[in-house]
Amino acid sequence: MSDFPPTVLPLLTEETALNALRRTWQPVANAAAVPPGGVMGYTLLNTELVIARFADGSLLAADVACPHKGARLSAGCIRDGQLMCPYHGWRFNAEGDCLSIPSLLEPNADKLALSHLRTYEVRQRYGFIWVKLVASRHGLPAVPEFEDERWTYLMGPPMKFAAGWRREVENYLDMSHFAFAHSATLGQAADPRIPDMKITLHEDGFQMDAPFPALQSTHEMPGKLQSTHHRRQRCHLPNFTTIRQSFPDGDERVLVHVPSPNTGESCTVFWSLAISPGFRGPPPEQQIEFAVRVLDEDRQMCELQIPREVPLNPSRGGWGVLVMPGDTLATTFQKQFRRWLTAGATV
Ligand code: FES
Ligand SMILES: [Fe+2]
Repeated sequence: MSDFPPTVLPLLTEETALNALRRTWQPVANAAAVPPGGVMGYTLLNTELVIARFADGSLLAADVACPHKGARLSAGCIRDGQLMCPYHGWRFNAEGDCLSIPSLLEPNADKLALSHLRTYEVRQRYGFIWVKLVASRHGLPAVPEFEDERWTYLMGPPMKFAAGWRREVENYLDMSHFAFAHSATLGQAADPRIPDMKITLHEDGFQMDAPFPALQSTHEMPGKLQSTHHRRQRCHLPNFTTIRQSFPDGDERVLVHVPSPNTGESCTVFWSLAISPGFRGPPPEQQIEFAVRVLDEDRQMCELQIPREVPLNPSRGGWGVLVMPGDTLATTFQKQFRRWLTAGATV
């Protein structure tokens, strides 16, 4: 039986969620993927963007379609310090100003002014490039370990999921899938019954604290990453989630996952890993490689789910119906996301 009868909840729409997400910072690239002179495309919340970095390091995020004939500027390049459209060579600066229209016999200030790109807020932090589509007071949460030079900080390769971003968040918070979805990595002997969880609500989200028993894998020697540890999972709404693993010997790891919504049914997971100084365990590159394998197993599970996005309102196959103990954290996320949406989110 549902512990959350649908009848008492206001019905929320995907449009409400989309508009709220547009007011939040979302990652669009690993910073290293867009070096000076780099140009790329990214679809964020159904909006196709061009992301470019100029020689001085400044970033541009703008609608991808050239104001002239709509060619994708993501196929352009930086030429003489300006973003150049591949079709007729119009050029733009980091502010989106159109500086040059080669076909004009004489410069025409009016035409240049009308040709300004539609730009968005863009910034770099934690090794990611972030874009906010609509101005708001939303800020990025502080994760000191990511900016502490004593810690080893590694960027994971972004992974595309043919699944909605809330499917990915739920997966990240799911406590009973390890023995099944991760039998090849984390171990078949993982206990699908959840350990004692302590959930704490915060103004901007929630966290879970739990002891994690050692996992046994039949495929490889149980290593540090599968050994007993304390786990704190923190979700900063809507989709910035971290896991802090504290091992008995004092070593720690902090992982961040942000499933950046491409469309209503797809997302790209940006993630990174901070490792405490002198970590006694597998070398950092091996930890990333292991995490990629685990994440790919999660991707496969998310892509199996119907519908591709978790319905906002309680439903069978979604959330709030057939709730089991291992779903507690995912249910907490859905309830808190509703609270965040109905409270006006980041307006
Ligand atoms: S379409 Fe971009 S310059 Fe013509
Ligand atoms: Fe998983």
